[in-house]
Order: sequence, then C-alpha cells, then structure tokens
Amino acid sequence: PPVKDFAQRLLAWHSVHGRHDLPWQHPRTPYRVWVAEVMLQQTQVQTVIPYFARFMARFADVEALAAADVSEVLALWSGLGYYARGRNLHRAAQQIVAEGGFPMDRLGWEALSGIGRSTAAAIVAQAYGQREAILDGNVKRVLCRLFGVEGWAGERAVSERLWMLAEQLLPAECELMPDYTQAQMDLGATVCTRSRPRCEVCPFEKDCVAVQQNRVSELPTPRPR
Ligand code: ADE
Repeated sequence: PPVKDFAQRLLAWHSVHGRHDLPWQHPRTPYRVWVAEVMLQQTQVQTVIPYFARFMARFADVEALAAADVSEVLALWSGLGYYARGRNLHRAAQQIVAEGGFPMDRLGWEALSGIGRSTAAAIVAQAYGQREAILDGNVKRVLCRLFGVEGWAGERAVSERLWMLAEQLLPAECELMPDYTQAQMDLGATVCTRSRPRCEVCPFEKDCVAVQQNRVSELPTPRPR
C-alpha cells in the first residue's frame, strides 16, 4: 500500500480525535446505519442528528417505515432537503420488507433505490464489518491530497484510481471496519477540510504529497469549466 500502516495510524488518530457518540453508532444496527447514511448523503452530521432522532422515534424499524404513508416520511424529512432521498428511503423499505430482510452485502444494498456504491459500502462496513471501501466527498479529498491525485474525480480514470487506492488502504481485519470507516469520514470532515485544512494536526502530514508539493489548496482538482 502507498502509505505504510495507514489503517492503524488512522484508527489511532480516531480513538483520540474521532466521533464515537453519534446516535447511529449506539446501537449500530443495519436499520439505523442505513437511515443515517441516506440522511448524511448531502447533509452534515450536526443537522442530521435531530432528524435522525425524530425518525427513529416515529419509525422504530423497517416494517414501520414500509407501512407508513410516504407523506408522513416526507413530513419528517421536511427541512433536510433533497426529498428524493426520503422517497427512495421509503421505496427501499418496501423492497427490503418484500425481500424478507436487509441485503447481506454491498451489491444487495446497491440494488435498492437511491443507494450507490459508497453508501452501500458505508452501510455494510459499519453494520456488518465487511471489508468494503467507501469513497464519498470527504474521502476523495483526503486521497487526492495524500497521494497527489490530479484531475477531476468525475472522470472515470480518476475515480478508478481513487477506488483502487481506497481498497489498497483497507485494514486486513474485518473487526476494524466500523471504526475505520467512521475514521475516514471524520478525518475529511474535521481535519482535511476543503478550505483551511488543519494539516498541522493531521497524522499523515509527513506522508502527504499535497503538503510536500505545497499544493494543498489546489487539490482535489475542481470540476473543469
Ligand atoms: N457522511 C456520510 N456518512 C457519515 C458518517 N457516518 N459520519 C460522518 N459523516 C458522514
């Protein structure tokens, strides 16, 4: 792998500086992780937390969600935005109940409405401890800087390179996957931020190609226009 002991070092950072008290981590069930990851697709953690709490209070499990009227789901979604996510969540709940339970792996989750590869991977890594790489906006930014990846992540070649790197960096042990997955998102959200990153507290400052080349503010490469 391009950085030695990446997973171990990221986990050591996370044990001190990461988030361990997010509502969907206690208990970390497939239902709770799934609802949280869909809410988090375009919305920040601090905004999601109260919506997640109200959602769990009203829909305790996937059966309750599937049986509800879509208008009630959207009423609870009101203020989160991107209402297609709420509609897809409700449709996916009905698919899950019709299938007789939650999908067992990433590809099963990807077959549901509104779930792409990274969201499916985030769900199975956190809820099942499966060894699947995530690549959301936060992780793309971390990898582009750490490895000096050039080019817009919307290009197929760039995206394939980033997925390859994300897979190479995975820890060997499945038990580490839930914390490892959360740790990547936390590093991107709290240290390797888009503007004014806090490189001086980053555990990978010495390894980071963008830091070495003084190009942190240029990476990741923005969408061409
Ligand atoms: N964005 C998407 N999933 C997230 C998570 N589990 N924690 C923080 N930010 C996220």
